Amino acid sequence: MKVKIGILTLSDRASDGTYEDKSGPAIKEVLGEWIVSECEYFYEVIPDEPELIKKRLKYMSDELGCSLILTTGGTGPAVRDVTPEATEDVCEKMMPGFGELMRAASLKYVPTAILSRQTAGIRGKSLIINLPGQPKAIRECLEPIFPAVPYCIDLIEGAFIETDENVMKVFRPKQKKIS
Ligand code: MTE
Repeated sequence: MKVKIGILTLSDRASDGTYEDKSGPAIKEVLGEWIVSECEYFYEVIPDEPELIKKRLKYMSDELGCSLILTTGGTGPAVRDVTPEATEDVCEKMMPGFGELMRAASLKYVPTAILSRQTAGIRGKSLIINLPGQPKAIRECLEPIFPAVPYCIDLIEGAFIETDENVMKVFRPKQKKIS
């Protein structure tokens, strides 16, 4: 089964062409280094509009069947930053550990890491994870959490993700045999 991955960039200025989105392509690049399973990517750049964000997250999950949806941008304290709220609104279950680990790991790089309210949650068979909008934040945030991502997706019956163990070793607990 192909692994379908949604990438949603939330930025007023990238969506109106004021600048080029670098973070969305960075997500694809980083995942491409790690994942060896066949992947199909769906990528969109939209403004920080809560209803639109929810609509596209639902579309990527329900219609496209993405096992993993990564958002970038809109996680900070500014008025237009609404990605975590939109994520929470479309998820049945929140996975706060992802945000906690990303913030903690990001403190190694920037003292402003705590300004990101990034979170993660489950909608159906999709794991949705928020990343900050800075292009360099993509690798900084994905690296610490990715070892737990494929198993999380196994548990929600999404696609099976295999990685190149030399560059990204993921963790799947061994099944215990009952004798
Ligand atoms: N996390 C990492 N790893 N690297 C970064 O450069 N930038 C921080 C924070 N988290 C950053 C980071 C900053 S400056 C802000 S304001 C918040 O993420 C929110 O960013 P966003 O609103 O673009 O999502």
